[in-house]
Amino acid sequence: MSIESNHTQTAQAAKATGPLVLEGRGLTMRFGGLTAVQGVDIHLATGEVLGIIGPNGAGKSTLLNLLTGIYVPTEGEVLLEGKSLKGVPAYEIAGAGIARTFQTSRLFGSLSVLDNVIIGMHSRTKCGVITALLRPGKSKAEMNRCAERACELLKSVSHDLFERRNVLASSLPQADRRRLEIARALATEPKIVLLDEPSSGMDDRDTDALIADIQRLREQNPKLGFIIIEHDMRLIATLPSRVMVLDYGRKIGDDTFEVVRQLPRVQEAYLGRKASSHHA
Ligand SMILES: Nc1ncnc2c1ncn2[C@@H]1O[C@H](COP(=O)(O)OP(=O)(O)OP(=O)(O)O)[C@@H](O)[C@H]1O
Ligand SMILES: [Mg+2]
Repeated sequence: MSIESNHTQTAQAAKATGPLVLEGRGLTMRFGGLTAVQGVDIHLATGEVLGIIGPNGAGKSTLLNLLTGIYVPTEGEVLLEGKSLKGVPAYEIAGAGIARTFQTSRLFGSLSVLDNVIIGMHSRTKCGVITALLRPGKSKAEMNRCAERACELLKSVSHDLFERRNVLASSLPQADRRRLEIARALATEPKIVLLDEPSSGMDDRDTDALIADIQRLREQNPKLGFIIIEHDMRLIATLPSRVMVLDYGRKIGDDTFEVVRQLPRVQEAYLGRKASSHHA
């Protein structure tokens, strides 16, 4: 793993904001002639919840892909606890403490709810799930340990999901699939969880339940940080202490929701007449 130390600059940044766990500096991502993300600085302190909003195509998902190593930035760098992630592959970044969910579901539909969480543990080598799957006889104790831990995680996200741990993931309603993705992300024992539109496909009641689930997770894990991309303004107004606004790949706001909601671009995209046609 080629993680370089960069303590001095991080310490300076931390002075203003508290201990930083994740930082992106001057992140730019170009796809051919299109600049999806342009010169974006982003930071997250321990236990902080950051919201990201912006119109469709603003670069929100691309930014998450940069933070998780799925894309290598054209310019700029990402630091986890002060160490540069330059050259570190995505699976190692996941193992180092950045977990995520995707905008479109990536569950294994033909596996059970419980097995989907167990699979999420594979980046934690100490759990040795892959070994256990390949050599079931020799690793039975380890598999039992993983299953126990997966049950705990399911319970912590949603007791209802835990009760349905043996059904196929494909048979779950959309809202529960999103919850299961969060449980799977937590299986890597992350320092930060990045959620890409967790409430998509949910009605208002499900979204309220999701907000309560995330609030409960925060109480249980006060050091766990979240970056949440959302179009649902109730969630954005409730959970994050700070909201970043992206527009055409640039950061145009980074403050409390009360402040950024006043931005004309936010009013137009979310709070004005165009809001209903925008919702993804
Ligand atoms: N792999 C890629 N190759 C080429 N262009 C891409 C790629 N990924 C994203 N883009 C483009 O980059 C821009 C930003 O896309 P991105 O998916 O990050 O937006 P977003 O803010 O997440 O939008 P949405 O709210 O619709 O999910 C868009 O113009 C998109 O078409
Ligand atoms: Mg997106």
